[in-house]
Amino acid sequence: MEFKKYLTEQCAVVEQSLARYMLTEQGPLAIHIKAMRYSLFAGGKRIRPILALATAEALHAETKHLLPVACALECIHTYSLIHDDLPAMDNDDLRRGKPTSHVVFGEAEAILAGDGLLSFAFELLTHPDVQQGISPVNQIRMINLIAKAIGPEGMVGGQSLDLAAEGQTIPFEHLKLIHGCKTGALITASVQAGAIFGKATEEQFAALTRYGMQIGLAFQIVDDLLDVEGTTKDLGKTAGADVSRNKATYPAFFGVAETKVMAGEAVDAALTALEFFDAKAEPLRALARYIYERNN
Ligand code: IPE
Ligand code: IPE
Ligand code: MG
Ligand code: MG
Ligand code: MG
Repeated sequence: MEFKKYLTEQCAVVEQSLARYMLTEQGPLAIHIKAMRYSLFAGGKRIRPILALATAEALHAETKHLLPVACALECIHTYSLIHDDLPAMDNDDLRRGKPTSHVVFGEAEAILAGDGLLSFAFELLTHPDVQQGISPVNQIRMINLIAKAIGPEGMVGGQSLDLAAEGQTIPFEHLKLIHGCKTGALITASVQAGAIFGKATEEQFAALTRYGMQIGLAFQIVDDLLDVEGTTKDLGKTAGADVSRNKATYPAFFGVAETKVMAGEAVDAALTALEFFDAKAEPLRALARYIYERNN
């Protein structure tokens, strides 16, 4: 119950910050901005920004000046969803309970809305407000990690592997790599951003990175499970889409029961990684459990 309240409150903090930092729909660019805002403000759990904030909190940091970074992570994530849903990729027409961007604005503008959100994220990562809470050296280190996590060796590379694996028989190690790249990398980077902002020691940073990688993997395993067991209404996206596209998923590989065990193991490993953190890391622990228990 207490965690539910925490999640609602943190979600509201993120919503308010997004409203504050995001461009508003006016002038000659109104349509482009409208398309970006349509997907960004369509709901969403805001897990990546909340993870960044919770990680900084676990290190006893004041998070105010981390908010533009938290918003940047959500912009990047939203861009990845818009592109993931495109006809050339997963071809989905429902996202966050609404028709997908390309359905509403057409494919070209959906591509541009994604591009716009990705680029705007770098404006936010370098926003003057952030500089009030972090040294220039650490800020560059943080941006470097995020850039690496969402690029060819992370999220985008993972999306490429995901598409190439459709209908293929692949080894388990490759499935794990796909999940780690397409989803785990940005989640890990969100934790790492909070860790750098919170001035983590080398040991703390390593432990938080382990935590991030494990919850990142668990997050995509559970996403795969929800595609099988969840409802379109709860998910806000079409259930059963993975099976119809012959996606490489954990349930397809191991069946539902064993997949649940594996998701649980990843969450346990994430909790173990936090063993030397004090009570301030309680939200991070609860977030790990929530990733396993969620229904959307
Ligand atoms: C869905 O992400 C896509 C994956 C990376 C699995 P989320 O489940 O975080 O989607 P929103 O942000 O809540 O809509
Ligand atoms: C999406 O994975 C990963 C990224 C968007 C980077 P999925 O394709 O499984 O996500 P959903 O199920 O469409 O949300
Ligand atoms: Mg996909
Ligand atoms: Mg998809
Ligand atoms: Mg999915």
